[in-house]
Amino acid sequence: MRHLLSTRDLDREEAIGILDVAEDMAEVQNREVRKLPTLRGRTVVNLFFEDSTRTRISFEAAAKRLSADVINFSAKGSSVSKGESLKDTAQTLASIGADAVVVRHPASGAPQVLAQSDWIEAGIINAGDGTHEHPTQGLLDAFTIRRRLHGRTARGKALDGVSVSIVGDILHSRVARSNVWLLTSLGANVRLVAPATLLPVGVTGWPVTIGYDLDDAIAERPDVVMMLRIQAERMSGGFFPNAREYSRRWGLDDARFNALPPTSIVMHPGPMNRGLEISSRAADSDRSTVLEQVTNGVSVRMAVLYLVLSTGKGPA
Ligand code: NCD
Repeated sequence: MRHLLSTRDLDREEAIGILDVAEDMAEVQNREVRKLPTLRGRTVVNLFFEDSTRTRISFEAAAKRLSADVINFSAKGSSVSKGESLKDTAQTLASIGADAVVVRHPASGAPQVLAQSDWIEAGIINAGDGTHEHPTQGLLDAFTIRRRLHGRTARGKALDGVSVSIVGDILHSRVARSNVWLLTSLGANVRLVAPATLLPVGVTGWPVTIGYDLDDAIAERPDVVMMLRIQAERMSGGFFPNAREYSRRWGLDDARFNALPPTSIVMHPGPMNRGLEISSRAADSDRSTVLEQVTNGVSVRMAVLYLVLSTGKGPA
């Protein structure tokens, strides 16, 4: 794999292949020494133009567990805040000898621009671009669902027939987009549940069903309920009346959590707005995979770094 820009580019077999490599990486996480020499001498740059906690430390942990050298670059405090362009930043990283660049950027498409440019030869991994995609989040979510369903026998399996409701701020969510493409390629049935104002205009062309009522979605007994964060920082206001009204209609509160079948799992990519889109009871229950998602994220990112860095510098 030359770059990882989008889950839309992955077909079913490729996706299963990445999840299987992540299973191998997860095994390493259970050893006493959680480190492989695989990427010794390679340099991974975490290039973050947007705030992040889990994604950045997850990529850092993943690269270090593969023995790569890691450089963390955040736009705050760098020459980017002095107006340096993406091109100059990329050329600087190329001159330093970066082999892979993990990019988070507020502009949708920024990682594609880097991957298609001749500014830098490194493998580019999209760690979230605007409202477009967050492919490693989709992969870690798919990995988490597959493990909860199949446990130790997950290798080689897809997600055929698994019902997943993705709930909330779909409009601003790159997590939702990456999950829609990936989970449906793996055979899952995806339903989006949101107020009409938080659904993108083109959503009718997506391979999903759409609902506006969370209670109806719960009554259909989904295997997975994935709650999304309300992305206030991307909103100019007016998407719903107020927080209380949002949580009354689209929040996974205690009553809705109790109405779910006992086998359903509850997911959230983090960071959570407790009491808004998800209650603490739901978030902290043993059916919540929130912390498992974080743990699995490291294994999935190890797999992606390994696959990107073990590919030659040929065309994508
Ligand atoms: C997500 C993101 O940044 O896109 N968080 C994450 O990577 N775990 C989702 C969010 O910010 O709501």
